[in-house]
Amino acid sequence: MKVLCVASECVPLAKTGGLADVVGALPGALAQLGVEVRVLMPGYPAVKATLSEDTEACEFARLPGGRARAISAQAAGLDAIVLDSPRLFDRPGNLYVGPDGQDWPDNHLRYGALCRAAATIAVSGIGGWRPDVVHLHDWQAGLTAAYLKLGRHPAPPSVLTIHNIAFQGLFPPKVMRPLQLPERGFRASGFEFFGQVGFLKAGLVYADRITTVSPAYARELTRPEFGMGLEGVIASRRAEVQGILNGIDLDLWNPESDANIAARYSAEAPARKAVNRLALARSFNLDADAPGPMFCVVSRLTRQKGLDLLLEILPRLIARGACLALLGSGDADLENAFRTAAADHPGRVGVVIGWDEPLSHLMQAGADAIVVPSRFEPCGLTQLYGLRYGTLPVVSRTGGLGDTVIDANEAALRAGVATGFQFSPVSALPLADAIDRACDAFADKRLWSTMTCRAMRQPVGWAASAEAYARIYSELSGVTA
Ligand code: ADP
Ligand code: GLC
Repeated sequence: MKVLCVASECVPLAKTGGLADVVGALPGALAQLGVEVRVLMPGYPAVKATLSEDTEACEFARLPGGRARAISAQAAGLDAIVLDSPRLFDRPGNLYVGPDGQDWPDNHLRYGALCRAAATIAVSGIGGWRPDVVHLHDWQAGLTAAYLKLGRHPAPPSVLTIHNIAFQGLFPPKVMRPLQLPERGFRASGFEFFGQVGFLKAGLVYADRITTVSPAYARELTRPEFGMGLEGVIASRRAEVQGILNGIDLDLWNPESDANIAARYSAEAPARKAVNRLALARSFNLDADAPGPMFCVVSRLTRQKGLDLLLEILPRLIARGACLALLGSGDADLENAFRTAAADHPGRVGVVIGWDEPLSHLMQAGADAIVVPSRFEPCGLTQLYGLRYGTLPVVSRTGGLGDTVIDANEAALRAGVATGFQFSPVSALPLADAIDRACDAFADKRLWSTMTCRAMRQPVGWAASAEAYARIYSELSGVTA
């Protein structure tokens, strides 16, 4: 079984969020099942820098945005196909956003080129390799499904995975010509969305199967509160929509071998987690002797993540003797508010604004608990990393957060299954209540250590979910792995 995976980011080559973690980890898990995956992604400078020498290139004379090449090569251990177009991808800074803080004005060409190249490779192959199935991730890959379905040549089937419906890739109708899109697709039952061209909408309409990254989010997406205007399209394809929970890379995120943390530990020998706690306190200038738990946050700072609620209840968290270490970047207002909170509460609140992969590992290892108070969360990975590192998640009951954390209510405690703390609805008081419950549990040392060891033993890898994807590939293509 051969699968072409199409995505705009992939660990360890390019990352702005969880999409990259998933695209980087899934091929390895699928390989175990006999599925051969090649990842097609843009040739950002950091990606091109890792390419192996034994490459094979194929020329595209007329992609959106002009001439480009696809290079098949090994990149950081992955079988990659890199779309090489310096004009589109050789830029500094963020993948999607220019130095002025606005989306790059030619994002339709950048990701349109990726999708057009994907469709051509899917139909004609590359260096004799032709996929049985095409797997598209998020809006940046969504238009591929339209090129495949509206094209003249027989094409392999496609699967679209929605990682976040808040990002839809909407552009004015004038992009249709440079994107080489046929007029007949510009209708409500095609890629048109409220007068615009929608990349994600194209994927939702033309892909043969739709998946999203948790069962709960699959249900939520049919409701207007979560569907962001696309709930009707998703509901109309209900029979072809499936929620498949994300896993995590158990090698990259392993407290027994993680080179980014101060001391290695495991569920069987958890004592040295305390060394990481001290290192974390030192990094964030926190008082390691404060009596309450050390909470952490590793997150994009956007409204989705609900961190304004955490700011609101910060005085209560501190009154309980707890500390907070936050690593994140995003909206200027939230960045400033957290900087101010750190200045107002020295020793209790520590904040690093920026992107820091190694520090994110130390935080998972050193903190007692991780807070994820999202307003919506398709899956969420930081709570899974938290479980793996014995850092108990405090999460809102939405999307994948609800699917992955078992609330420490009385019944779950009695049954011996609790792994964290959930709250609902997503507002300040219920969050404060969950923080209170976490503080109470932390004060009971036996309970806390039972819960952390249980959390560390949860099956958070890819095994089951990779099988679910492999099953879909087989059903669609008729090929078995
Ligand atoms: P989302 O994709 O919505 O941002 P996820 O929880 O799925 O949320 O994934 C976020 C990923 O990005 C995780 O791997 C997390 O550790 C990482 N991350 C978020 N912010 C930072 C940061 N400031 N520095 C390093 N890693 C970060
Ligand atoms: C998105 C979602 C996040 C999910 C990630 C990977 O960025 O916001 O919830 O974990 O994709 O699927």
